[in-house]
Amino acid sequence: MTNDKIELVFASNNPHKLSEIRRIAGDRYHILSLDEIGCHDDIPETADTLEGNSLIKARWIKEKYGYDCFADDTGLHVDALGGAPGVMSARYAGEACSPEDNMTLLLHNLEGVKDRKARFRTVITLIMGDEEVQFSGEVEGSIATERSGCQGFGYDPIFIATETGMRFAEMSPDDKNRISHRGRAVAKLFDYLTSKEV
Ligand code: IMP
Repeated sequence: MTNDKIELVFASNNPHKLSEIRRIAGDRYHILSLDEIGCHDDIPETADTLEGNSLIKARWIKEKYGYDCFADDTGLHVDALGGAPGVMSARYAGEACSPEDNMTLLLHNLEGVKDRKARFRTVITLIMGDEEVQFSGEVEGSIATERSGCQGFGYDPIFIATETGMRFAEMSPDDKNRISHRGRAVAKLFDYLTSKEV
């Protein structure tokens, strides 16, 4: 704890995700990034499920660096592609690909496809002491036929959230957090942490 804040490492250096999570966590928590604990490891993501990969990342931090922590793993699941890219979402267009490459390939693979239903799903693993707990969140949507919007990251310019009819890249960070896969999983995480404090 620093200044009565609860210190937790979030196993990521993605500035978009860190800012999303710090907004949800509020003043009670001091959320540290991997850079801030001196972790520059290429943490392997070798599991074939979101649950498995988030567990690997969280255990890596706890075992090698000793911090209480949480780690997330997210997949974009497209019905017409049998759930792909799913656990391969970050590397859909190849190992060294960019988010642009991933969107280009996804739009290409959906050319002429009418059923464009998709969902984002996030799994978070929390490790506090020797306790391991998992939380998940989902958001339903569809894949647009072209990019639009400049907020967010990853597949946001082509993901239309059913609840708002807007792409994530067209929504403010707070509006996205309210309904997003990660926002929902993180809300469950902080509800759980709050319930443990009383
Ligand atoms: P990760 O497990 O969070 O690294 O996410 C895997 C892939 O899904 C990456 O390519 C991310 O860009 C993408 N992704 C994760 N969360 C989001 C999101 O909120 N919006 C758009 N893409 C995301």
